[in-house]
Amino acid sequence: MEFTESYDSIKQNLLTLQVVPISIRELLFISTAPCDIYGIKEGLFQRILRKGVFTNKPLLRDLIAKGQVHLFVKRNDRPLIIDNVQKNLLNVTRSLSVGNPVENGRSVMNLLTINMGYLYEDPTNDKHLKLQHQCAKNLVYFLINRINILEPLQKDFIKQKHHFVYAQPLIASIFLLGLMKYSQLYTDQEIENLFITSYFKDIGMSSIPAEKYDQDNLTEKEKELLSRHAQHSVQILRGRLPLSPNHINIIQHHHSFSLLTNDLHLDLKSKEQSGELIAGFETMLVTVMDVISAMITGRPFRPPTKLFESLDLVKILIADQYPQEFRLIVSYFKSFFFDKN
Ligand SMILES: [Fe+2]
Repeated sequence: MEFTESYDSIKQNLLTLQVVPISIRELLFISTAPCDIYGIKEGLFQRILRKGVFTNKPLLRDLIAKGQVHLFVKRNDRPLIIDNVQKNLLNVTRSLSVGNPVENGRSVMNLLTINMGYLYEDPTNDKHLKLQHQCAKNLVYFLINRINILEPLQKDFIKQKHHFVYAQPLIASIFLLGLMKYSQLYTDQEIENLFITSYFKDIGMSSIPAEKYDQDNLTEKEKELLSRHAQHSVQILRGRLPLSPNHINIIQHHHSFSLLTNDLHLDLKSKEQSGELIAGFETMLVTVMDVISAMITGRPFRPPTKLFESLDLVKILIADQYPQEFRLIVSYFKSFFFDKN
């Protein structure tokens, strides 16, 4: 008996060293468990899903109902989960135009966001970055002539409660895509380029673990890293994504105001005049959609703002410098998002 107990305790200690956490969301989008999945029962690690078992929605709902929300896999098995999610992302992206557009858009947006998490964990990983870029591009071409489904997609996406660090850039870029299409000022190629710029602009935030952003009070060092995330993004992306110098510049300047210091003046016109920035207008669009997306996604320390209320802040930021563009933004949200909320 004593021997069994100490054997069990050694087994537990070994498991503690070997396992890494995964998100239940990662299992939602794969059909079978590619490896054993562990949970915690009465304070001990226990296998709760055997390798090969179907990971359908009722099964996962049952786990959540039993409070099994903290899931783990052995460290060596982690790449199997990532591989499965990525294969699924690629498959769903390739067959976007077959079947229900909202369902398909929803799957790609969720899978992209999970892969964004992998990318932020390992921003120099070329495989993660290439896949993310390819699938984001496919999503642009799928949505560009379907801007009437952006509203249900963004609403559903917010309900999925992905971590805001990974979700916010996608919502902002979806808004941006719709706005550019609505304005009739841009070619599809230009929309794709600005979407990619907007979607990857915050990758420099990966220098701080995502959970840290759940705290209202970052340390001084973390605040400094956060304030320099635009430069970090440029360092991470330069030469790895096909972005023009102009688009790299947009990333560099996408926080031409600071919520951290409450300096809410979007000073792009002067940058444009001094030659520091060529595309002041596009930078403004990227920044403004980011502000709206940040406000409507909640944080652990503040509730989400209503979409129409976020436009009040946008007004303060740009209405003086860009009155016509402000009217365009308001009219876009009114036409596609307000009446439906
Ligand atoms: Fe940012």
